[in-house]
Amino acid sequence: MHTMRKSAYKSGVAGKSNALKSAARARRFRRRLLAWYYAHKRDLPWRENRDPYRIWLSEIMLQQTRVAAVVGYYAKFLQRFPSVEKLAAAREESVLAAWSGLGYYRRARMLHAAAKVLVKAHGGIFPNTSEDLKKLPGIGRYTAAAIASIAFAQPVAVVDGNVERVLQRIAGREISGEHLWEEAQAILDPSQPGEFNQAMMELGATVCVPGQPLCHSCPVHSSCATRGPRQSAGKALRLRKREISYMLRRKSGSFFLVQRAKNAKLMPGMWELPELADKQFGKSKALLVLRHSITVTDYRVKVVEDITPEVVLNPSTGKWIQEGRLAQLPLTGLTRKILRSLKML
Ligand code: ADE
Repeated sequence: MHTMRKSAYKSGVAGKSNALKSAARARRFRRRLLAWYYAHKRDLPWRENRDPYRIWLSEIMLQQTRVAAVVGYYAKFLQRFPSVEKLAAAREESVLAAWSGLGYYRRARMLHAAAKVLVKAHGGIFPNTSEDLKKLPGIGRYTAAAIASIAFAQPVAVVDGNVERVLQRIAGREISGEHLWEEAQAILDPSQPGEFNQAMMELGATVCVPGQPLCHSCPVHSSCATRGPRQSAGKALRLRKREISYMLRRKSGSFFLVQRAKNAKLMPGMWELPELADKQFGKSKALLVLRHSITVTDYRVKVVEDITPEVVLNPSTGKWIQEGRLAQLPLTGLTRKILRSLKML
């Protein structure tokens, strides 16, 4: 039984929910959502146990990346760095290489930095509250709450895009900013916070989806004020279109790759194929054409092989890399995709 306090909603502790109106309704919501979750939850590798290292890694990988894309990288990363100590002791290049393809490389650098702090200042033991977790590099409010609730059962709610949509539909109105966190905290089941948080995210990812939700399979349909798409559902994101060309230069089992500037804003220090300006590209026949989307840009990517001899290979940033070494190098996601499409990786 959860006792209600008048001030609970304002102070953001588990208690009175504006969306669910009464304590009895909140209890029914929790019971139904959790029963559905236990019966339908996806069998995901980070749900095998409550090891905070594994949970932390999954939460960082899942930021800005879909579950299906994360699963393969997750297993490989854990094989390469099975513990926080192994991660802390690794070179940054190897961490970035294991991350290569997941994008948003700042996440990997911060993960590495936090592993070092955890080992140096905490003896490799994770702090068990969201307040202390937030002090680590790369751990913000969402991630701290996710780790604290899932690994340590601290009753603290998470809000991500999925939870936000579920809360808005349940309430039948726009909720924003701090109010989202307060509402999530008020609905949270404090006796099973990790499972409840994951159930909210799971519901948003699989049933209460953007656009047309699957209300007929929703376990909390009777608590929902919307039951359908929300009127104010945002406009579909319009992607910008861009063309980009790369050169593939091969010489006896090696490729010519260039390293991005160490202070570049995007993917600093990572390796890629040399980019061609339009006039260099000329009329050369494309070896490969593919599409690649990064945030709001949809690229049409052309790859040409060994074009005009005038193209100067800049030895200050570029290097010939043996094919066998490619896998250990932090390649950009696009370069990895190109080499894979050409069966060279
Ligand atoms: N998204 C991020 N973390 C998640 C989790 N643990 N379960 C479901 N969806 C998630």
